[in-house]
Amino acid sequence: PALNRVLNLQDMEDVARKVLSFRALGYYSSASDDEITHNQNILAFSRLFFSPRVLRPVSICDTSTTLLSTHTSLPIFISPAALARLGHPLGEANLTRGAHRTNIIQIVSSDASLSYEAIADARPDPNQVLWFQLYKNKDRVKAEARVREAVKLGYKAICLTVDAIVAGNRERDIRVPWMLDDMEKLDSAHEVEGDDAVRAPGDTKMEEMSINILGTAGALSNNNDRDMTWTKTIPWLRSITKLPIVIKGIQCVADAVLAAEAGVDGIIISNHGDYSLPSIEVLYRLRKERPDIFEKIEVYMDGGVRRGTDVIKAICLGAKAVGLGRPFLYAQSAYGEAGVVRLVRILEREIVSGMQMLGARSLNDLIPEMVVKVDWQSR
Ligand code: FNR
Repeated sequence: PALNRVLNLQDMEDVARKVLSFRALGYYSSASDDEITHNQNILAFSRLFFSPRVLRPVSICDTSTTLLSTHTSLPIFISPAALARLGHPLGEANLTRGAHRTNIIQIVSSDASLSYEAIADARPDPNQVLWFQLYKNKDRVKAEARVREAVKLGYKAICLTVDAIVAGNRERDIRVPWMLDDMEKLDSAHEVEGDDAVRAPGDTKMEEMSINILGTAGALSNNNDRDMTWTKTIPWLRSITKLPIVIKGIQCVADAVLAAEAGVDGIIISNHGDYSLPSIEVLYRLRKERPDIFEKIEVYMDGGVRRGTDVIKAICLGAKAVGLGRPFLYAQSAYGEAGVVRLVRILEREIVSGMQMLGARSLNDLIPEMVVKVDWQSR
């Protein structure tokens, strides 16, 4: 469909689901185990309602903010997601150019499918700010080289992912090669019955084997350091770069407090494993139990953000910005750079009208008192 028929993020996902290959869709859409946390990341927003204020002037409504002193037009960023080229030949470059046109920050994945240099080169303006997401290799030399490369290429923050030391068990992703095998059999059934049609699992080539066992996600995470600690890893990273450090994958209040004590610049509340609390719930608890943390470090969250109202709820609770992962993968897969721009424009329109409905004309007007938790879900 024409891009202007895409009215919301669900429409965008629906288009992507039609154009993506089985492998890309399996990888992009799947989540750990029974996908309970993935679904609840989305649904948990629907337990939060607003207490809008009226008779406040909102004809001028400013959605801009600063993230680690970078000005951005909206309190959203592109979360790091691997292998954008599975969905579109230009892959991560679509995200980079779309981020430039809409003035938001892109966090580039350690497992990007273009080189970190090619992504930096895709920027229309060398001043465009990119952050770098680090999966720390268990080989210290390789890990250090990766950070130094990102610094040299001009990335402006290092975002260390700490919640994905082992691969999530994404069963829909793992099943894809078998599904493809089955489809091949169906195809070849129309031709002359040959050996191919009855290929046994044991005949699969080695590299396909590793993907069969691990899925795309598993094949990527083999070399991650599983022995990171607060006292060794953060000082190590601090010793090799002066860039701001953001810890991605905080899943409870206690670790948010430890991150602030460790002297990092920001955290992203985020999860990779099933039955982690939904990100927005962790943010809610952090705001309630430790409001002081929001004064010390910048707090971001991602997971399940699909509407402007979701963004607004997180900002009310003290987040400086929220990230989106799958929605950007879907948008760039379906429409390339134009899809990325469309996605941001949709969210912008939703954020502006949502703020106006709340009586807020800047992000500073969004305060915790505007969000009320109920014990039932709205959908
Ligand atoms: C991810 N995510 C991720 N995170 C990270 O730190 N490094 C990475 O390389 C990836 N890769 C990746 C690939 C795919 C296909 C998905 C779906 C996710 C997690 C990502 O940054 C983010 O936390 C979630 O995607 C946020 O949830 P939503 O917005 O997808 O609901």
